[in-house]
Amino acid sequence: MAQWLTIWRAAQLVGVPRGVLQQRVRSGEIELADGLVSTETLLRLYPQTELEASGMLERVVHIRDEAFGRRLRERLLPSQEVLAQRLFNQGQELADVQRHLQRYHALVIALREQLAALATDDPRLAALHRQLNDGLARALATESVDRLDVMDDVLKVMSAQVTLRPSGHQFSVEGHDTLLQAGLRAGLKLNYGCGNGSCGMCKVRVTDGQVARTMHTDYVLSETEKSQGYVLACAHTAGSAELTIESLEAAGPADIPAQHLVTQVRAVRELAPDTRLLHLQTPRSHRLRFLAGQSVTLGLALGEGLRSTLPIASCPCDDRNLHFFVARDADSAFAQQVFAGGLKPGDAVNLWGPVGEFVLADGQRPLVFVACDTGFAPVKSLIEHALSLDAAPSLSLFWLATRPDGHFLANQCRAWSEALDLFEYALFTDADASAGARQVVTAVRADLFDIDCDFYVAGPQAFVATARDELRAAGVPAPQVFVEVLS
Ligand code: FES
Repeated sequence: MAQWLTIWRAAQLVGVPRGVLQQRVRSGEIELADGLVSTETLLRLYPQTELEASGMLERVVHIRDEAFGRRLRERLLPSQEVLAQRLFNQGQELADVQRHLQRYHALVIALREQLAALATDDPRLAALHRQLNDGLARALATESVDRLDVMDDVLKVMSAQVTLRPSGHQFSVEGHDTLLQAGLRAGLKLNYGCGNGSCGMCKVRVTDGQVARTMHTDYVLSETEKSQGYVLACAHTAGSAELTIESLEAAGPADIPAQHLVTQVRAVRELAPDTRLLHLQTPRSHRLRFLAGQSVTLGLALGEGLRSTLPIASCPCDDRNLHFFVARDADSAFAQQVFAGGLKPGDAVNLWGPVGEFVLADGQRPLVFVACDTGFAPVKSLIEHALSLDAAPSLSLFWLATRPDGHFLANQCRAWSEALDLFEYALFTDADASAGARQVVTAVRADLFDIDCDFYVAGPQAFVATARDELRAAGVPAPQVFVEVLS
């Protein structure tokens, strides 16, 4: 009999992004009932999703579906305690179901016997008795198990599924991740502060399921909070295979507080002759909360003039390790300091922020990123965030270089495109940013203009203005064009 799954779980089981399933829903290939998809439909569309029909342990080890097997093997197991807790909970659920079934069975057998005694003189009762016998025989007949059901059970133990209320967002908790880490990895904008159990800002209320504590915390919840089910998301993981929690999420940049941190230089690395990667690390107890696509101001302790506002090039899912692309720039004292070797590992760098509205909008349209030179920094952060969210049906990148080493991370684009079916990219070169923008938009129109997309454009003023005007002239609605001008 078909089972019903959420789109989120279905995508996990068959190993495709949620956006791909959502697109098939829109095109009518998948029909939903109460927002759920049936395993029958899923197996019809993804027939390769199969397991060996042998013993349970063998099912995990000898998995015929290569993709599912690989996904299982790649998973980090949670700690022994958490694994034991999840198995125990699942065993309890199974025991409950068995007990109910046994009682139903005993009831049906008793009724059948009574019916048999009464049916001797009454043809209608005799027909009812036969119907009951046939139905019982069918119910007790051994049928092959639903493959997706088995896979779902295996996944439940290895990675718990968390549902967030009131948003309804879902994410899985893998390995040793806390609820907070797993939520951030999934691209959610959860509320938090220190990340290590001392501020209390990551409080969530558990409304269904169980949690397991992962570390000692300095912050103490009140007795009332404890009795209401509150826990710290940064110090707990999922103890049951399914968990529902209530938590606030940031709606946008306005919900992210201004912060001041003193970070340390982890490394300065040459990406290309005129581009450096600046890797900063925050203190363990004071991380940067930001949204993908936002910028911060960096200031060297050496002097007031040594400040620069730069877009963060890394993903908010790693809030300790912050990456920036610094281009050689004779007008920037900060850049000159970076290129002159004035920043060494361990040096302190002040950080203020985050600022900026260049963040992913909610929605499920295909995403198109248009970048020029180091405009790739916020775009890279957005792409990584979009990959975490796993909601866009496709991602396309069009990257213009106005200088010889402008494509300083082309290898990263190649790696994404080789690893991900949903990602494609094209590189362009033109010394003139405006002419390059026209060239890029012409390519965008030729490639995917008939697709209803969201466009994210980042780079110098001339590039952004031209690209935006060209896109608008081509008929893209204003609310679907997001821009970031880099100074
Ligand atoms: S983020 Fe500070 S206590 Fe969890």
